[in-house]
Amino acid sequence: MKENTKRRIKIRGTGFYVPDKILTNFDLEKMVDTSDEWIISRTGIKERRIASEDQATSDLAVEASRRALENAGLEVKDIDLIIVATSTPDTIFPSTACWVQKGLEADHIPAFDISVGCTGFLYGMILAEGLILNGTSKRILQIGGELLTKVTDWKDRNTCVPFGDAAAAAVLEEADDESGMLSYYWKADGKLGNLLYQPAGGTRIPATSQSVAQGLHYLKMKGNDVFKHAVKRMGEAALEALKLAGLNKEDVDYLIPHQANVRIIEATGRRLKLPPEKVYSNIHKYGNVSVASIPIGLHELWEEGQLKKGNIIVMDAFGAGFTWAAVAYRW
Ligand code: UT7
Repeated sequence: MKENTKRRIKIRGTGFYVPDKILTNFDLEKMVDTSDEWIISRTGIKERRIASEDQATSDLAVEASRRALENAGLEVKDIDLIIVATSTPDTIFPSTACWVQKGLEADHIPAFDISVGCTGFLYGMILAEGLILNGTSKRILQIGGELLTKVTDWKDRNTCVPFGDAAAAAVLEEADDESGMLSYYWKADGKLGNLLYQPAGGTRIPATSQSVAQGLHYLKMKGNDVFKHAVKRMGEAALEALKLAGLNKEDVDYLIPHQANVRIIEATGRRLKLPPEKVYSNIHKYGNVSVASIPIGLHELWEEGQLKKGNIIVMDAFGAGFTWAAVAYRW
């Protein structure tokens, strides 16, 4: 938890990358027993991007990072730490952040991953704030990259519909004016971990021919249960972050919620009593890109010229763990 203080961190630049290949709902109709109509009405998704066979999370993350650095007016030498939030790393070890460091030729700055599900970008920002304000780092490259389609069972209509691939990055540094992260609220509940997880491939169930034959390396999700928790927790997080910042619902210019389902996005907007134009949504074109969804939303709003200095933004996420968090931010 963090209340509004004088010193804060700000986002200096953002960038994102999505693979070229588009998978539409009509493509999915040919793969499983589903329909464009069902998918749009239940999720709001029309299409999603799919990484190619030879692309790994770090490949997307490196491209997103280059774009973020360019938009920040900086070069690789100007950053001193890389944090990658991902649940779909290139390899179990070393970390995806180390592969990104190699890709960017950012020798020898520290680099590490955090595994927080879809909430990872916000947890990363919170961590970055501590590191920057205590003097450990000056400028952090915070990345959210996810290739969930690599662990998707394309025969299971319950899980193959929502997810897409993407990476997004932000350059974080100490703010020199009134802008920046005003407050945060972060929580987790490990008791509910098995409602959304990848059972095999770790040390609980190591990868064997048997685990693969049983499909245990695929993402498993009790969608409807996750949905109910997400609606409750995202509402809670947004309201708590606002309270910690000393702000009211009426102060919010934009809510950028994690893009898991348009019905969750709308429910969170209603909880804050916001009109639809203040609730950012791009789920129709990318699907649920997990940890990349919030920084992509932020980037798109900035690129479209919608963010004005002084705007109050609430970023709000929920994901595997379960984890949930919200950040109140002044642009
Ligand atoms: O990103 C991190 C957190 N993740 C989330 O927040 C995801 C939250 N969950 C969801 O977005 C939704 O639960 C889903 C989109 C995954 C599923 O939507 P739902 O409205 O919760 O559907 P459901 O699982 O309750 O299933 C309702 C019905 C079932 O049929 P019966 O048993 O009522 O006959 C399912 O078999 O819809 C059926 N169904 C489908 N039908 C057509 C499930 N998936 C599909 C499908 N196409 N793809």
